[in-house]
Amino acid sequence: MRVIRLDEVDSTQRYAKQLVREGDTDFAVVAETQSFGTGRHGRRWGSPKGGLWFSFVCRKPVDLPDDEVPFLTLAVGVTVMEVLREMYSCEFEIKWPNDILVNGKKVCGILCEKVGEMFICGVGINTNVSRVAILEFNSMAESLEEATGEKIENEALMQKIVERCIEAVECLKVMKKDIIYKLNSALAYKGEMRYLTYLKKEAEILFVDENGSLAVGDEGEEKHIFVGEVL
Ligand code: BTN
Repeated sequence: MRVIRLDEVDSTQRYAKQLVREGDTDFAVVAETQSFGTGRHGRRWGSPKGGLWFSFVCRKPVDLPDDEVPFLTLAVGVTVMEVLREMYSCEFEIKWPNDILVNGKKVCGILCEKVGEMFICGVGINTNVSRVAILEFNSMAESLEEATGEKIENEALMQKIVERCIEAVECLKVMKKDIIYKLNSALAYKGEMRYLTYLKKEAEILFVDENGSLAVGDEGEEKHIFVGEVL
């Protein structure tokens, strides 16, 4: 896959979406810094120099029904976590739907957006950035370099993530069960009471169901949440 390397851009995600709309569908774009990185729910994403900020494009599998598209987001999250686990000896977990935590704090955020039949997957990893630099943007953020005690090879990490995610998306249809299984084994806060933005209150985190929704216990009742986030 072609890699577009930029020193600075407002957002690799916005840049990638623009190229896809113009008909370019086979590339990844990475930038040293983003002046206007965007996260889920329209939030700003702090992107100082040293971190790994990139977006890549993959095609929606032809056999994937539209209502199963959320699986794609989950598959990318699980795959990024697997690559991180293979490369670094830290305890990575997934905060549903696809935030990656280390030491209980967010080290990676993922934003998948659909443009026609294509998906733009934006991945932000706080690799070689200090905790102090990222805390300015998110008080619950972690630095991969500080967590692992080693300098992160951004280029190698990105190449591996892109390659593995594209593979995972291609065989998404047959891998659904596997993705849910892996997600459940890495699920953060299992058995804990956490605030759910959708319910606007705390509930017990139980598991991720076969549709990719988060099952929670709320006053003796099991509820399945498919939007919002866990705080
Ligand atoms: C989130 O957790 O809210 C998702 C964060 C996604 C950030 C990445 S960094 C590369 C790409 N470009 C952006 O503007 N956003 C994504």
